[in-house]
Amino acid sequence: MTHPKMTIVDHPLVQHKLSLMRDARTPGPDFRRLLREISLLLTYEAARHLPLKSQAITTPLVDMEAPMLDGPDPVVVSILRAGNGLLDGVLDVIPTAKVGFVGLYRDEATLKPVQYYCKLPPEISGRLVIAVDPMLATGNSSAAAVALLKEAGATDITLICLLAAPEGVDCMAREHPDVRIVTASLDSHLNEKGYIVPGLGDAGDRIFGTL
Ligand code: URA
Repeated sequence: MTHPKMTIVDHPLVQHKLSLMRDARTPGPDFRRLLREISLLLTYEAARHLPLKSQAITTPLVDMEAPMLDGPDPVVVSILRAGNGLLDGVLDVIPTAKVGFVGLYRDEATLKPVQYYCKLPPEISGRLVIAVDPMLATGNSSAAAVALLKEAGATDITLICLLAAPEGVDCMAREHPDVRIVTASLDSHLNEKGYIVPGLGDAGDRIFGTL
């Protein structure tokens, strides 16, 4: 199965930075910086359908009708803790975005998500909601987080993830076919411990130095 709304961003800058991140020798500070940079580039794709309005401005030369973002500010929701590695990249390009957090950890025995925190901005319906989680592995955590967002009223949701596994994409296609996925790569498979292969290891550990 594939996902009806998945975009794989094959831009050379994204692919180059991703390869550096996959390399086990890449130090933590570089890993964090690269993740932020890729996040910014993936956000560019995720925000492609934001509406524009025409607004009168004056350049140093003439008056003109200029395109400006229309509608309410988007919301970015970090799926803790690894989502925080993508958060600043989104805010770099959408500085007016409201920010929410969903805390889910993966029970290592069942690989199922357990919720421990949820703080969302009010009135998220009618806004573009960008959920960020670097690794779409089984898809259980992302699907649970998206379900929370829908319960809170979100109707226009895009999930940005750095890497996706086919299993996670299938899970999202089953549970949330309406949610767009923007990723840098669809990897081969999950291993017996639920890690994405070839992947880049534990994203949270590499971001926060908890290896
Ligand atoms: N979470 C990670 O951080 N890495 C994986 O490969 C899978 C889930």
